[in-house]
Amino acid sequence: MLYEIISSLLKKADPEFSHHLAIQFLKKNFLPLHIFVSKPSKILETSLFGKIFRSPVGIAAGFDKNAEVYNSIFKLGFGFAEVGTITPIAQPGNPKPRVFRLTEDKAIINRLGFPSVGMDEVYTRIHQNKPNGILGINIGPNKESTSKLDDYLKCFEKFCKLSDYICINISSPNTPNLRDLHEKSKIEELLKAIKAKQAELNNSTPIILKISPDITDNNISELSDILLDQKIDGIVLTNTTIGNRNDLRSKFKEEMGGLSGFPLQTTSNIIIQKFYKRLGNKIPIIGAGGVSDGKSAYEKIKSGASLVQLYTSFVYEGPYVANKINEELEDLLMKDGFQSLKEAVGADCI
Ligand SMILES: Cc1cc2nc3c(=O)[nH]c(=O)nc-3n(C[C@H](O)[C@H](O)[C@H](O)COP(=O)(O)O)c2cc1C
Repeated sequence: MLYEIISSLLKKADPEFSHHLAIQFLKKNFLPLHIFVSKPSKILETSLFGKIFRSPVGIAAGFDKNAEVYNSIFKLGFGFAEVGTITPIAQPGNPKPRVFRLTEDKAIINRLGFPSVGMDEVYTRIHQNKPNGILGINIGPNKESTSKLDDYLKCFEKFCKLSDYICINISSPNTPNLRDLHEKSKIEELLKAIKAKQAELNNSTPIILKISPDITDNNISELSDILLDQKIDGIVLTNTTIGNRNDLRSKFKEEMGGLSGFPLQTTSNIIIQKFYKRLGNKIPIIGAGGVSDGKSAYEKIKSGASLVQLYTSFVYEGPYVANKINEELEDLLMKDGFQSLKEAVGADCI
């Protein structure tokens, strides 16, 4: 009852304010989290990057930008959490309003532009609040940076020993020229530099690249070769899109920024299939974009994703969403005769 009242208030308020309140509720333990706790079935357990994920469903970057509530998120049935995007120095992000709820479309448009408390503050938070689950840290450059490459290296050095994986975000549409890093020579230079830094630090934390859905088949082919060459450990497919506006119904459909949620679902599935056909099981895929129930998670897994992430459906479905997906996914896997989640990865691409 308490949750229903809070939820309906949050859905009516300004989206960014609602998000702030949700973070405060989770941080101050105002929500009785024990009512959401359920143990995912063994069939959902999967090992990746040398870790055991008890559920393949994670919270995507952007929800817990400044690493405030990851331990509460683990209690909601999520198998992992990705915090960030974190920038080297604190920055406010773009002017408000900058987040729009497209309720009729089950979507969000955001142009936040990496508001961040900066890497030193986040480092202290994580250092003082040991993660009780698998924690990825998503890093990016400051808006006013004179060298994006140096910014990634600074964040990598700061966090590589503190996280279960580092996600290199080159795909937010809200930081000027960031997505230019999908170009062959630029991404090659960046990944080589990060790998060299990792070797210098004698570190082996998995490195994951987060990719845009707004890329061509030629980009996919070039990126795949570079990822294999540089021995990158994984990819997140995908970030938000600047396209897909034509079929939207909400009055916010023309707002600038990245679109997430249901209208991104098929686009990201297609990108997952295209990468999976090139990479097979050599580089695991984390699928994101419109995951909101067991069916949409299963489609991503059968398209080639080993894990999935969500953000937008947390806003629309509430804190039960991960548990709901876990239960539905278990049923779907069993119905199709799979003994484990791994067996279903890429099943639609054979
Ligand atoms: C409000 C909002 C903020 C986001 N911020 C980030 C971010 O800081 N870094 C990032 O890599 N992705 C960010 N994302 C993208 C999500 O991580 C995810 O890739 C995308 O929303 C697709 O998943 P979804 O459809 O489940 O939301 C953000 C998404 C939303 C809706």
